[in-house]
Amino acid sequence: MHTTTNINNSKGLDIDCIREDFPILNTTVHGKPLIYFDNAATTQKPRSVIETIDNYYTNMNSNIHRGVHYLSQISTDAYEKARTKIKEFINAPSTKEIIFTRGTTESINLVAHSYGMKFFNDGDEIIISAMEHHSNIVPWQLLKTYKNINIKVIPIDDDGNLVIDNFESMFTERTKFLSLVYVSNSLGTVNPVKELISIAHKHNVPVLIDAAQAVNHIPVDVQDLDCDFLALSGHKMYGPTGIGVLYGKEKYLKAMPPYQGGGDMISKVTFEKTTFNELPYKFEAGTPNIEGVIGLGAAIDYINNIGINAIHEYESGLMEYATKALQTVPGLQIIGNAKEKAGAISFLFENIHPHDVGTFIDFEGIALRTGHHCTQPVMDRYGIPATSRVSFAVYNTKAEIDILVKSLIKIIEVFK
Ligand code: ALA
Repeated sequence: MHTTTNINNSKGLDIDCIREDFPILNTTVHGKPLIYFDNAATTQKPRSVIETIDNYYTNMNSNIHRGVHYLSQISTDAYEKARTKIKEFINAPSTKEIIFTRGTTESINLVAHSYGMKFFNDGDEIIISAMEHHSNIVPWQLLKTYKNINIKVIPIDDDGNLVIDNFESMFTERTKFLSLVYVSNSLGTVNPVKELISIAHKHNVPVLIDAAQAVNHIPVDVQDLDCDFLALSGHKMYGPTGIGVLYGKEKYLKAMPPYQGGGDMISKVTFEKTTFNELPYKFEAGTPNIEGVIGLGAAIDYINNIGINAIHEYESGLMEYATKALQTVPGLQIIGNAKEKAGAISFLFENIHPHDVGTFIDFEGIALRTGHHCTQPVMDRYGIPATSRVSFAVYNTKAEIDILVKSLIKIIEVFK
């Protein structure tokens, strides 16, 4: 199996060597070498992840937790080893607190449904922010169908920072929950979640952190943050799609009812009564995404091999370089100039629709995302329909940013 070598040298990361780990980066698009700047939507996969999944189906495929036979044993072992890897990656105290889900969206829906249905009463309040992804808005609105709760929203300022001067005054005795994005997928803002969690805890309010856009860019330590829940997606961190994680403190997960019923989540079933399996299995009904979990384990190995701190430092350099370079493009306006940003930069031209930017730039071989990025309230906040967004991963380079800038300047000529 291919492994990255020599990724650290005295000058920092050896990006050429890292790029060799990603076969898709050799692709050409419309005859041009692919420049992939849509990493906030999904990252590309290193060969080690692809080969791990291939190896699973070639040599190991079997259902887990269900067989005494050899293949079932080795699949179960690999699946549970991946759970330990993710536990260590986010520094969770126990594997009982690591639930595999389909992704961040399912993790948040799980909490909104299971915790919300049990612990929210009519008139209770939840606080979210104005820069949430739809996946941290709609599940709470769905809960409103059953419980007459109020959703309070932390505003954002013109630069894309959360306005937290009056944050503490948002809490009342009816406040039951805070659910907050760590890194905004559309603005790139890194929110001061640790500070906000500690304020929420002063009011005995548990906190869920949406870390979908954080875990591949910055070190995330759930014990240091002291968050009560944390949601992440494997495919945003070089792993497969369809797999994610919900971290939850054991005391909450124990008190919450199962989200879905089915195989593996039970202890004993009769027609009169069912008792449930222990954590984490209580929340993993049915045959899970086994290759996804094992592939996610390989993605974590990949990140650990480079080092999340080294990735953070390298990508911060890219963000700074790209911000300055984009500011040189005539008429380009960056949306979101928060004090601390990671991963993504959104921008707009006054007279060129983002969709046209996306289509034109695709012919240059460059993939970026245009649209509302599943954050329509953010677009409403700035009175815009959409943005173009570049988002980075560890395999991106300053040379690619230079090509982007040249291509954007060409677009201006075309649309003059
Ligand atoms: N939430 C993902 C994005 O920001 C899909 O593109």
